[in-house]
Amino acid sequence: MATLSPSCLLLPTAIMALLLFSLPTPSISGDPDLLQDICVADLTSSGGLKLNGFPCKAAVSADDFYFKGLATAGDTNNTFGSAVTGANVEKLPGLNTLGVSMARIDYAPGGGLNPPHTHPRATEVVFVLHGALDVGFVTAAGNRLFSKTLVAGDVFVFPRGLVHFQKNNGDVPASVISAFNSQFPGTQSLAMALFGANPEVPNDVLTKAFQVGTKEVEKIKSRLAPKKTA
Ligand SMILES: *[C@@H]1O[C@H](CO)[C@@H](O)[C@H](O)[C@H]1NC(C)=O
Repeated sequence: MATLSPSCLLLPTAIMALLLFSLPTPSISGDPDLLQDICVADLTSSGGLKLNGFPCKAAVSADDFYFKGLATAGDTNNTFGSAVTGANVEKLPGLNTLGVSMARIDYAPGGGLNPPHTHPRATEVVFVLHGALDVGFVTAAGNRLFSKTLVAGDVFVFPRGLVHFQKNNGDVPASVISAFNSQFPGTQSLAMALFGANPEVPNDVLTKAFQVGTKEVEKIKSRLAPKKTA
C-alpha cells in the first residue's frame, strides 16, 4: 500500500476543520460568569433599571449569605399536597451572580404531587431527606420517560428545561433538597401555564391541543384558575 504524501492529507484536514467550525456552537449552559467576588442582590432596586440579574447593593453583611428557610417543612395542605421552598436569589441575595441555588420540597403522605413543570434556566439535582417518591422526566427528543422510585439518601437529576415531576408514593411525609445551577431557575407548571394563565389561553387552542371538548377544558380551568374574588 502506497504511503500518503503530506499534500494528500492537507485537503481532508482542511475539510474537517471547516466542518468542525461550521457546526452550531453550543449555547452557554448556565448563568453567566461573575465579574467580582460578591454582588449581593439589591432586591429593592427600582427606578426602571433592568439588568440580567440584580444590581449589587453597597452595604452587605453575613446575613446576606444566610437563609434559615429550608430547616422546616413547607405547608403541604393544598390542592397538590406539596410545597416548594426556594433558597434562590430572592430569598438569599448573596447568591446574585453565583449561578447556583437550592430548594426544599415537601410532599404530603398519600400522593402529594409536585406537578409536571420545567425550570427554563437550570438542571435540578434532588437529594431525598426522608420518605419515598416516584419521580420522572420526559425528554424533548422522542418524549421518552425516565422514571425511578427514590428513598432516603437517593439522588436523581432532572436535566435543564425538561418536564419533570415528583410524587409521594408512601403513607408518610417525604422531603427532598434540590440544587440548581442557576441563582433563579424559574418554574413553569404545565397545567398552570395552560389552564391557569391570565389572560386565559383560548379554549379553542386547548380543545384542539388536548383533543377534548370545551366542557373538559372549562372544568380544568375552573379548578386551576386563581379563585376570583366577587
Ligand atoms: C387544610 O386546609 C383546609 C382549608 O384550606 C382546612 O379546612 C383544614 O383544616 C386544613 N387541614 C390541616 C390539617 O391543617
